[in-house]
Amino acid sequence: MILEKFSNWIVSFQINFVERIRLGRSMLGFMAVPVEFFYAVLSKFNLASPPKVKFNRYVIEYRKTNPVEQQSEQPIAIVTGANSGIGYTTSKALMLAGFHVIFACRNKDLATEAMDKIKKETNLETCEYMHLDLSSFESIHQFTTEFKSKYASLKLLVNNAGVMMCPYLKTKDGIEMQFGTNHVGHFILTNNLLDVLKRSSPARIVNVSSLAHLFADTTIEKIIERTTNPKKYNKIWNYGNSKIANIMFSTLLAKKLSGTGVVVNSLHPGSVNTGLTRYSSFDNNFLVRFIKSILLLSPTAGSLTTIKVATSSDLENVTGKYFARENETTALSFSQNIPACQELWDFTESLIQEHSA
Ligand SMILES: NC(=O)c1ccc[n+]([C@@H]2O[C@H](COP(=O)([O-])OP(=O)(O)OC[C@H]3O[C@@H](n4cnc5c(N)ncnc54)[C@H](OP(=O)(O)O)[C@@H]3O)[C@@H](O)[C@H]2O)c1
Repeated sequence: MILEKFSNWIVSFQINFVERIRLGRSMLGFMAVPVEFFYAVLSKFNLASPPKVKFNRYVIEYRKTNPVEQQSEQPIAIVTGANSGIGYTTSKALMLAGFHVIFACRNKDLATEAMDKIKKETNLETCEYMHLDLSSFESIHQFTTEFKSKYASLKLLVNNAGVMMCPYLKTKDGIEMQFGTNHVGHFILTNNLLDVLKRSSPARIVNVSSLAHLFADTTIEKIIERTTNPKKYNKIWNYGNSKIANIMFSTLLAKKLSGTGVVVNSLHPGSVNTGLTRYSSFDNNFLVRFIKSILLLSPTAGSLTTIKVATSSDLENVTGKYFARENETTALSFSQNIPACQELWDFTESLIQEHSA
């Protein structure tokens, strides 16, 4: 844990330093990214505790603290974007820990392929596909209606799915794609499921954000402008805005859920070698793929923070916090500003209303 804590300390120091002297935040992103690579490369030499060992440790710890024989029913988890990357390894860990995992995915074939692979590897059958396209209000409402008609309980919601740095696109309802999918889609999904989460308490919500929130606007006016004016679209900053929105949603939701037994936290999974960079023109280049395999974490390593925040008994009562490298850490102070979080919440609700048929 020394490397994890040290890397987090450096990034926290950079954030505090830049915020104090009001240096441009693009500088901050560029200062923090080398720490990501430094951590990913050095962590590959951590022979005492490689990702697979940590992965198994979290699974075993959960099984020990939640023995199957003491549970009246199998806990249910929903993982969005479970068919690939971080969502895939997270879902596998949750199944091994004893959850029945709903693969909330938009592509049935990819989800079935992923589930078959996990079933083969684990000898477990405890997963199921339910269609969810986060870029469609109708699909989200259909998903939550179907889920509630089948299940009365939900112990864990992992809002993991995401799209990164796509060209300017719109969701089915006409909202800018990155903000619409990563934030608005999960906002509706979560709010639709709050009643069942509260009934199932203790329960957890995990929002997968990103270090890319450092490349976000830090006024609500700017976030609104970049979301609603196609001329202001910038694929990096719009992605950053969707990811700071994930943290701000968690910050305020944690306050709203205080006393309900439902905790909500957000996290940066690390810089992970997944298909998220599919919109980059360099992604198919052999050399780039080779460099990525060295400089980035494996999906197993990149799922450890999600798995820990979702399952660790130490975090049972922890809420409204931001994690990276398996530890609580610092996010931009704007993401913790409650009035700003409330303004973002209000804007999100008005956007949904405006784009609802
Ligand atoms: N990889 C990194 O370095 C990194 C760093 C920081 C944060 N993150 C965050 O980690 C999360 C997981 O990303 P990943 O790296 O594992 O990438 P990934 O392998 O590309 O996974 C993204 C998942 O999201 C799904 N998805 C995208 N749009 C969707 C929609 N409209 N409805 C439902 N599902 C949708 C994708 O489905 P399809 O397969 O059908 O496209 C896929 O299953 C994202 O939220 C990302 O922002 C990743």
